[in-house]
Amino acid sequence: MALLETQNLTYIYGEGTPFRIAALQDVNLSVEKGELVGIIGHTGSGKSTLVQHLNGLLKPTEGKVLLNGEDIHASKSATRAARFKVGLCFQYPEYQLFESTVYKDISFGPRNMGLTDAEIREHVLRAAEFVGIKKEWMEKSPFDLSGGEKRRVAIAGVMAMEPEILILDEPAAGLDPRGRARVLGMIENYRLSTGKTVIIVSHSMDDIAEIASKVVVMQNGAPVLTGTVGEVFKSAEKLVSVGLDVPQLTRVFLRLKAAGVDVRTDIYTLPEAKRELLRLMQERGRAQ
Ligand SMILES: Nc1ncnc2c1ncn2[C@@H]1O[C@H](COP(=O)(O)OP(=O)(O)O)[C@@H](O)[C@H]1O
Ligand SMILES: [Mg+2]
Repeated sequence: MALLETQNLTYIYGEGTPFRIAALQDVNLSVEKGELVGIIGHTGSGKSTLVQHLNGLLKPTEGKVLLNGEDIHASKSATRAARFKVGLCFQYPEYQLFESTVYKDISFGPRNMGLTDAEIREHVLRAAEFVGIKKEWMEKSPFDLSGGEKRRVAIAGVMAMEPEILILDEPAAGLDPRGRARVLGMIENYRLSTGKTVIIVSHSMDDIAEIASKVVVMQNGAPVLTGTVGEVFKSAEKLVSVGLDVPQLTRVFLRLKAAGVDVRTDIYTLPEAKRELLRLMQERGRAQ
């Protein structure tokens, strides 16, 4: 049984109005325990609408969301449980910081879960460590931090609830390349150390190529490609046709291939690229 599953999930904004938009159409998705799923797609493809269903924030127009096999809208208690088991960090979450100190902001979620003060403190400190928040920041106002630091505080706030599934909607959006690498590295580290399931939404392949175990490519409100990173990147033409780009590294190998060099084209990480180039050089060395 999948940990989290959508069955024929359809969602319409503004049903019965002239502004009706079918944002999701018949989506069947399954997420297994421990996976790091990357949901990618162009702006407007339905990514945010999809993830807001996974913790019960939006209710399907048609179809179901199952968590551990149970419909999260079967009862009020099931919906409430889903809110805690599935932690969702919105796009640009730093705009939602509002407490007077970093500590209070990170502890907001765990406090709502009815934990004791000691438990809350443990949760907050563990989450702060994952995102590299220094002890001396804890009593600062979140508004005195930089954009990237605020983002990390907001992500820690969701991690501090210690959800079974952590979902991050565009966690690296708007950050400079160093900030992006840092946030993505933290998320990977969180997953490796906790073994928890993580879902990352992104419109950039470069962001998730190195860390996702499964990729779901969305177009017009439905997945058009699902598979391992390697499987999805093999369909480079399909990706380009849905308006997505393959990672820069993969593009280099596609160009080499197009130029008549006999290379693999399912290359998307630096170590793999190095291995493939070394192989090529050795082969050429032998041929000479
Ligand atoms: N609150 C809303 N009201 C009406 N339409 C919306 C709303 N949010 C998103 N949409 C529409 O639903 C579709 C999917 O949007 P969204 O889920 O935000 O996609 P993505 O996150 O991939 O950019 C788009 O056509 C978008 O304009
Ligand atoms: Mg979005």
